[in-house]
Amino acid sequence: MNTLTLLRDLRAQVKQWRQDDQTIALVPTMGNLHAGHISLVERARQLADKVIVSIFVNPLQFGAGEDYDSYPRTYAEDSEKLYQAGADILFLPSVADMYPLGLNNNTKVEVPELGTILCGESRPIHFSGVTTVVAKLFNLTQPDKAVFGEKDFQQLFIIRRMVADLCMPIDIVGVPTFREDDGLAMSSRNGYLSDSERDIAPNLHKTLSFVYAQLQIGIANFAELEAKACQRLQEAGFEPDYLSIRCAETLQVPTQATKELIIVAAAKLGKTRLIDNMHCSLL
Ligand code: PAJ
Repeated sequence: MNTLTLLRDLRAQVKQWRQDDQTIALVPTMGNLHAGHISLVERARQLADKVIVSIFVNPLQFGAGEDYDSYPRTYAEDSEKLYQAGADILFLPSVADMYPLGLNNNTKVEVPELGTILCGESRPIHFSGVTTVVAKLFNLTQPDKAVFGEKDFQQLFIIRRMVADLCMPIDIVGVPTFREDDGLAMSSRNGYLSDSERDIAPNLHKTLSFVYAQLQIGIANFAELEAKACQRLQEAGFEPDYLSIRCAETLQVPTQATKELIIVAAAKLGKTRLIDNMHCSLL
């Protein structure tokens, strides 16, 4: 595995691969890699001849007061894991190279409306930071496939929209959420949890399962069910940001006729913000 930090070196390698008719899969990450990230790299390995993994803690997607400075940076361990997983390139750009004119002067890529709902309500600049950096990574790596986790359902949804809207010739592949044995979705932010918070954390997934089961037995008052679920989260020790039942195909509020639902939730446990989701097909 080759580790590249300079944009021009990455471009040269990509150009060479393109000339050699090699297909490319990209896995964008912010590092501190866990088994969920590695499952994305393994999927990418199956999809293309060459796999590029980027690690870039993207300042543009963190709001004021969020955890940009404290976000775990574990490049040596990450590099070893990526080597084991068979990545061809680890791309580790610097902030100065990615945003040479500074964060405020950079051209932004923004998906309207979808970036302002759910997580976008409490993190208003987050998704434009994500789409901007992902668009730049796509232009740098020119991938045939790009692999993202379903754990960040809204992010995946927004990236699919960006690719469609901007006619980017890239196939976006979603990978199911990788979980701990007790159901907690793996996340780099789980490392922030204290022991007692870690014991409480699986209740987020349990609450989604509760909503899923209620929907399956025909409960159709979504607003009441959402309120009940939020109350459960509060009782478990969370401070819920939202728990919402949405149409899985549009992310909008469903009607009674909607059959493909996604239950999405974000909740704070102490200082740590956790997100999770569960798909629910109604027969
Ligand atoms: P990061 O949080 O590092 O996640 C990188 C990728 O790993 C994302 O596609 C995310 O959905 C996926 N992922 C995280 N936890 C997962 C899990 N438990 N199971 C499966 N996949 C999981 O998401 C970002 O970084 C950034 O916003 C990024 C897209 C890199 C742009 O900066």
